[in-house]
Amino acid sequence: MRDASHLHSSVVGGPSSYLEEHQAVSTSRQGLVAARGLAPEEVAEIRGLAEMCNALEGLDLTLNLAPEPPPGETNQFLCYHDGVLAGYCSMYPGRNTEMSGMVHPDYRRRGIGRELFAAARDEVIRRGARALLICETGSASGQAFVSALGLPRDMAEHRMELRSFPVPPPADERFRLRRAEPEDVDTLARVSAEAFGDPLDRTRERVTQLMAALNQRFYLGLFEQEPVGALRVEDYDGRTFIYGFGVLPQHRGQGLGRRILTRTLEILRAEGRTAVGIEVETDNVPALALYHSCGFEIVRTYEYFKVETPSG
Ligand SMILES: CC(C)(COP(=O)(O)OP(=O)(O)OC[C@H]1O[C@@H](n2cnc3c(N)ncnc32)[C@H](O)[C@@H]1OP(=O)(O)O)[C@@H](O)C(=O)NCCC(=O)NCCS
Repeated sequence: MRDASHLHSSVVGGPSSYLEEHQAVSTSRQGLVAARGLAPEEVAEIRGLAEMCNALEGLDLTLNLAPEPPPGETNQFLCYHDGVLAGYCSMYPGRNTEMSGMVHPDYRRRGIGRELFAAARDEVIRRGARALLICETGSASGQAFVSALGLPRDMAEHRMELRSFPVPPPADERFRLRRAEPEDVDTLARVSAEAFGDPLDRTRERVTQLMAALNQRFYLGLFEQEPVGALRVEDYDGRTFIYGFGVLPQHRGQGLGRRILTRTLEILRAEGRTAVGIEVETDNVPALALYHSCGFEIVRTYEYFKVETPSG
């Protein structure tokens, strides 16, 4: 439920009180809106815009449609022209803040993309974060935009989707997968930070934030009671995604990753969740091989471009 006490948007450079802002949005609907959360009608407009852009170039654009952002963050920018939602840019905070944008086909090449990008980049700078702009390889318009902005390519990821549930390896009573609880935050943060080589503080902050979200859960893989790996399951828009799947370096190559993944998939299957996705860097050969052998197939490839900010 959207109300003034916990959600508000601001028209960039415009009025600042919640009421003024929302009158501005609902009557004139002109210009850029930095939204702290989305009303159901805004979600419907964004979905409509994404469908149009997706259909034009055969894309599956990433959208952050979260109704409420974490405190103090603005992750959604909307741009209206004469009452029409002409553009949308959203961000997912994480190890890097990931940005994704789109502009209505009838409103392209008028500088809206640049305007949304600049607003999102300003917010990233304000937070002292690092950011990447996502562009699907199949988007000719997006690729042209990225090269106009002169952003260097950082890396690419495949999105894989589960085609068939795997046969789990023979049971080994020394292994166990269990859902992580809030008291496991430190363990989860340590395992993730070590598995990905990330700073512990930032990882702990992120894990704590995600743990509080209703559509997120973490699992810990244990071997002889010792935590050896972790992953996060996100339910979003009728689909389930596995993120942050990592095994501690000293425990790799012993089949524990396969156990963690297949056990998680068994849980999802038992819950009736069959639309399962996972993302993997295109040059991560061991992970790609594991996911293929567990029934995943590559469906799309997304490139990530570095957004230059003072934080790097
Ligand atoms: C990418 C996208 C957001 C650009 O939006 P936009 O409002 O048209 O972008 P701008 O008008 O600010 O364009 C900025 C510059 O990018 C370049 N550019 C953008 N689209 C282009 C295209 N189709 N062909 C060639 N150059 C293009 C141009 O240099 C342009 O400047 P110019 O018009 O002065 O020559 C839009 O095309 C889109 O929604 N594409 C599908 C979604 C997508 O792939 N998103 C990922 C974005 S990285």
